[in-house]
Amino acid sequence: KGLRVSDKGFLNTAVIQSEITYIDGDAGILRYRGYPIEQLATQSSFLETAYLLIYGVLPTKDQFTLFESEILHHGVVHAESEEFFRSFRYDAHPMAILTSAFAYLGSYYSEANPSLQGQSLFTKGDKASLANMDKQIFRLIGKATTFAAMAYRVRQGRDFVTPPTGLSYTASFLYQLDHLGQVDYAPSPVLAKALDVLFLLHADHELNASCTTVLQTASSLVDPYSAIAAGCASLYGPLHGGANEAVIRMLISIGSPANVPAFIEAVKRREKVLSGFGHRVYKTTDPRSYIIRKTADEVFKITGKDELLETAMALHDAAMNDEFFQKRKLYPNVDFWSGLIYRAMGFPLDFFPVLFVVPRVVGWLAHWRQMMLQQGGVKIWRPRQVYVGPSKRDYVSIDDRT
Ligand code: CMC
Repeated sequence: KGLRVSDKGFLNTAVIQSEITYIDGDAGILRYRGYPIEQLATQSSFLETAYLLIYGVLPTKDQFTLFESEILHHGVVHAESEEFFRSFRYDAHPMAILTSAFAYLGSYYSEANPSLQGQSLFTKGDKASLANMDKQIFRLIGKATTFAAMAYRVRQGRDFVTPPTGLSYTASFLYQLDHLGQVDYAPSPVLAKALDVLFLLHADHELNASCTTVLQTASSLVDPYSAIAAGCASLYGPLHGGANEAVIRMLISIGSPANVPAFIEAVKRREKVLSGFGHRVYKTTDPRSYIIRKTADEVFKITGKDELLETAMALHDAAMNDEFFQKRKLYPNVDFWSGLIYRAMGFPLDFFPVLFVVPRVVGWLAHWRQMMLQQGGVKIWRPRQVYVGPSKRDYVSIDDRT
């Protein structure tokens, strides 16, 4: 009573106070814990930035060494997991596998499940419960790459790779993927660095659809594995983490720079969507897309230029100079260039969203930890609706229905 739908799509609803990520969508500013994304992308690493996002400060050398070793150590998975991964159909989408794998993982850890413990596990200021929370965080970040690599290799009928020692998080991931099928594969430091930068840029983006899903799910105090599985499912959609895949499909369908004007006209007639353009928050170019564009050039030096690059550049320039896009403040987002890098590195199209999930697990966990520790405890997220269905009516037996 008295309610009205006032904010379809949550355009103007703030549900939490957060100290993690700051975005100014009009000025094109993105900061993690106050640090500009441009400084982090050029001077930090993915795992150091992960520490910053989760704990709010840059780590000392000792803190970082411990954090990195905990995460890499948790990369090893239970032997039975192999059977789980092999139980999927040969053509299963890797996002379906990964989403299921996070939920499956939770079945091993009753210490992370408040409903099995009969009480909330995480109490602010209580050392044991903070350590318990950290353990789940290390596990989820550590296993994200291993699971992603398993989802990748199972479809090729290949054995799984035990996480190596002595490599960075991203180099270890490339090693486990061994995606070129070489014997004694050693990941190129340039490609590992490029992936590290891409991971850092994708690590968090405040309350996007998937992060909101994680928090909504976690607000019932379910275990973090189930909450991360829910976030993974949300990210899978083409309006969110599936957009980098959609960009490549769009570029393939356009075919060449000569066909760009016709495509732009089709977008303006609402027959097509320009994937990789537009953003709920950024009303100017997404600051991450400048960094990704530079990273693409580094990668292309090793892999050679992607044949779709010219079409992408023609499309980018045509949209930027067209009144339709200018008027609606539609500019390139993070996904416009990232797919071209992943393609040049040899990843199949349907693996692109997985490359978004792996780093985003960090952001989801940073928000989850913040929520669990918030002042006054967790309040379940239960929005209201405005009912517009039929008023009371009486049941009619199936024999009497017309
Ligand atoms: N192509 C064509 N028209 C568009 C596009 C686009 N990519 N994006 C928005 N518009 C139009 C939209 O039709 C509307 O026009 P009008 O006012 O005449 O009705 C206007 O621009 C405003 O757009 P909106 O739909 O109200 O914007 P939104 O904030 O609800 O949606 C979005 C944001 C990202 C879902 C949307 O821009 C979109 O669908 N983009 C393409 C998919 C994409 O690249 N997604 C990745 C987002 S960034 C990474 C991530 O979050 O995962």
